[in-house]
Amino acid sequence: MDEFDGKVAVVTGAASGIGRALSDAFAGLGMRVVLADIEAGPLEATAQELRAAGADVFAVTADVSRFQDVERIGEAAMDVFGGLHVACNNAGVAGGGLAWEVDLETWNWVLGVNLMGVVHGLHAFTPRIIASGGGHIVNTASMAGLTSTPGMSPYNASKHAVVTISESMALELAMTHPEVGISILCPGWVRTRINESERNRPGWTPPAEETEAGALNQMRQMVDNLIAEGLQPAVVANLVVEAIREQRFYVLTHPEWQGMVRDRVDRMLSGENPGLVLPGN
Ligand SMILES: NC(=O)c1ccc[n+]([C@@H]2O[C@H](COP(=O)([O-])OP(=O)(O)OC[C@H]3O[C@@H](n4cnc5c(N)ncnc54)[C@H](O)[C@@H]3O)[C@@H](O)[C@H]2O)c1
Repeated sequence: MDEFDGKVAVVTGAASGIGRALSDAFAGLGMRVVLADIEAGPLEATAQELRAAGADVFAVTADVSRFQDVERIGEAAMDVFGGLHVACNNAGVAGGGLAWEVDLETWNWVLGVNLMGVVHGLHAFTPRIIASGGGHIVNTASMAGLTSTPGMSPYNASKHAVVTISESMALELAMTHPEVGISILCPGWVRTRINESERNRPGWTPPAEETEAGALNQMRQMVDNLIAEGLQPAVVANLVVEAIREQRFYVLTHPEWQGMVRDRVDRMLSGENPGLVLPGN
């Protein structure tokens, strides 16, 4: 897809971080954008800021883990803007711990948003892109979808699933609807609010400081620092636009993480057991 002006995009998780940057980038290219997010306040603020900058946007409050909500996003694109060309299934949350200790509510929440949210988007948006004459789908996974680091099983599982679904779909679209492209976005650390994901967790209340185990607090602090030093979301959004333009499937934003992927595949093929490799190694 090389013509963006006047076309229609939907972005889930549009009120913060990477989704906000994607929305800004699409609006800057003259696209009309359906902004979707579970957080009504920040979503409305995003819509107002984009409108003030001259963009044509429409906001839909939606929980991507509910198919009816995602259908409403697709309907808004058709009803308000008359078509759909680019769909970014981007909303996501982080949750982890030791695989056997993470409570089942956390497993269900993370898989519900990160995996089923994407599946719902594929169901709601792909037929509408086809009906609009073609376009592009962008699924946000993570480098966690290409590696298996400890302490993040629910997140890793959801992102690995999104990678393989997208790889299958790339082949399926090439065979059936070559007018629809697809990309998988796999970032390393990006400066967003992903480490505050629990703000969107149904029924969640912040734990009292003293109830958090020391090791957990330490890990949180480490991740907070890595995210604070992460890539700017606008840089990621520009790489996504380039990938859509060039019909590139894999969008890997952090070259220093690629050794981890190589190490995993090498171990798998040589019969070695999993080992811990950090970014930059
Ligand atoms: N920040 C990183 O380091 C990083 C790295 C790799 C992948 N990612 C992925 O990028 C995507 C965007 O996350 P981000 O980093 O911008 O974080 P973020 O928290 O800044 O933005 C995520 C957005 O998704 C929304 N959201 C959460 N649950 C939702 C739900 N059920 N329905 C609809 N919207 C919901 C949030 O309100 C928020 O606006 C996620 O899929 C995340 O897993 C982030």
